[in-house]
Amino acid sequence: MKINQHISELKPSATLLINEKVRELRNNGQEITHFGFGQSPFPIHKSIVEELKNNAANNHYLPVNGLQELRQQVSNFLSEHQGIQRASDLIFIGPGSKELLYQSILIFEGEFLIPKGSWVSYIPQIKSKGGSYQILETTLENNFKLTPSVLESYLSNSQVQKHILVLNSPNNPTGAVYSDAEYQSLATICRKHKILVLSDEIYSQINFSNEYSPSISNYYSEGTIVFGGLSKVFSAGGYRLGFMSLPRELEKISVVYSSLFSETFSCVSSPVQFSAIKAYEYTKNLKEYVASSASILDGISTYIFNELSRCNIQCTTPQGSFYMMVGFEKFKEHLTSLKIDSSTKLSHHLLKNYGVALLPGSDFGFHSNELFFRMAFVDFDGEKVMEAYKKEIKIDELFIKENCLSIYKGVQQLIKFTREIG
Ligand SMILES: Cc1ncc(COP(=O)(O)O)c(C=O)c1O
Repeated sequence: MKINQHISELKPSATLLINEKVRELRNNGQEITHFGFGQSPFPIHKSIVEELKNNAANNHYLPVNGLQELRQQVSNFLSEHQGIQRASDLIFIGPGSKELLYQSILIFEGEFLIPKGSWVSYIPQIKSKGGSYQILETTLENNFKLTPSVLESYLSNSQVQKHILVLNSPNNPTGAVYSDAEYQSLATICRKHKILVLSDEIYSQINFSNEYSPSISNYYSEGTIVFGGLSKVFSAGGYRLGFMSLPRELEKISVVYSSLFSETFSCVSSPVQFSAIKAYEYTKNLKEYVASSASILDGISTYIFNELSRCNIQCTTPQGSFYMMVGFEKFKEHLTSLKIDSSTKLSHHLLKNYGVALLPGSDFGFHSNELFFRMAFVDFDGEKVMEAYKKEIKIDELFIKENCLSIYKGVQQLIKFTREIG
């Protein structure tokens, strides 16, 4: 048996590994705060579940590109609730945005550009096809967002003909959200160098300062493919439904996508597509539900940010999604003297000795010796917290202690750690 070398070299995803480790420790009776796994803690809105039930008997294969009614509904949703104008005939429905991103990575030849502080799966997906990529440097001062000067300087010195930039905002792992002005400047450079942008906007409505986050497609529509889906905004990761939208200028590629879809997944499950129509109708009630979940995440992340920053733990400013990066660079000297000189080693140390699970930054494009970690702040019962939030609205330490005890304890454990080594 001979396995494709690009595939055999892939490691199991760090997120899943840490999840298994946490489950094992919890089964042994250990108390663990799980800051590792990033799944929406909130229940799926009842209207979407009802629609899934109503369509459970539907056993038809649906069109490869997705149900026309759903594609139209996504187009309306993008226009009304995400500020993006995209025609329904250029919207494609797939089994999760992950698969659509992967198929896009398969389709486009060139060098992929990944800002440091990017989602864990982009690089393995590129590697699996033997593709080439370059990590672009970002800094904490800029919330690990790509700056126009870094992009311009890389592209103007590059010998490669074609580039594909992968952007994600609100961001996993940093929680950063690009502003309109930032996108405008990046778009100028993308246009100048004619690069393709894959814009992963799966967390768009989980934005703490606005109803949805800006999109680079509004400044560079002709070169941007936008991705989204049910998993984060609608808390329906297990439904496995995502979408992508091509600009009219890339229309001729749609047949390439359709061919690849038809030879791989055929179509997304029909009951799920019907339930997604309900989601993208985005009734007032559903919109308020999403807005409340974003406010809760905002409150929790602000609490964590304030507590940890006071103890010299570096944090990105949380602006959206369910994540932030936390850093222990200020303790580096001491940690190195204890032979803890990489984020992987420190993540094991924190899990073993403090019962706190964090994912090492090295899985997100950080150098192995940079002591940064992704913290997912969703280790709480979303249903219970949503009920409590409706009564109290204000999220302070008392609220966190009463409703998100694991997060409270995890934060206290990290503070204890800094005191012990400080
Ligand atoms: C940034 C980002 N993009 C894409 C995905 C994939 O989402 P799905 O395939 O569930 O649509 C995730 C899931 O964790 C993500 O965090």
